[in-house]
Amino acid sequence: MHFNSNVEAAYLMWVAAPGGTFPYLVEAVGASGQVVGVEISPEVAINARNRIEANGWNNVQVVEGDAATVCLDGGFDGLVMFAAPDVYASPEALANLLAYLKRDARIVLFGVKVSRRASAAVLNLIFRWLMKLSFSFTPKLNDEPWCVLKDQLADLEVTEYLCGCMFLAWGSFRRMPTMYAP
Ligand SMILES: C[S@@+](CC[C@H](N)C(=O)[O-])C[C@H]1O[C@@H](n2cnc3c(N)ncnc32)[C@H](O)[C@@H]1O
Repeated sequence: MHFNSNVEAAYLMWVAAPGGTFPYLVEAVGASGQVVGVEISPEVAINARNRIEANGWNNVQVVEGDAATVCLDGGFDGLVMFAAPDVYASPEALANLLAYLKRDARIVLFGVKVSRRASAAVLNLIFRWLMKLSFSFTPKLNDEPWCVLKDQLADLEVTEYLCGCMFLAWGSFRRMPTMYAP
């Protein structure tokens, strides 16, 4: 997950049923760390809480709210945005969430992107069509979905998958002076 698994820390994550990233984050934060999920949909939040209960994860919680406005107890060491374009491509959501991160917090995002390769033309069409099934306000696909975060990541690295139609991007957060100061 590109986090330091020796750090016992509070991690901020993005959550949705079935909370597919939970097991990895629970392992990454260790027994004394915490995982906090943010989810806008009440139904999805309930499903995620059921999953937490079923697995006996007492250091994981889900906060129901919009990433752009949700209030959290700050000081997180990491932010995971897995298949969450509504957040990693939204300046408003990022402005809110980044304010809760510590300096040098690790940020990881994963999702779909437009490929520049000619051989991926059909895949681009399929993913563009699939994105129409998402919220009407979900940002349109482009070839650099991490661009909103680019200037705030000190050591951005990107790996592409599936002919360049999927990406994993990560780096360390450059905290601005006006942001949350634990
Ligand atoms: C594809 S899922 C992410 C999967 C999740 N990361 C996991 O590990 O299972 C995207 C989720 O983002 C949620 N979402 C979309 N916009 C949001 C917002 N503005 N604030 C919070 N959650 C949002 C959706 O309700 C949906 O559950």
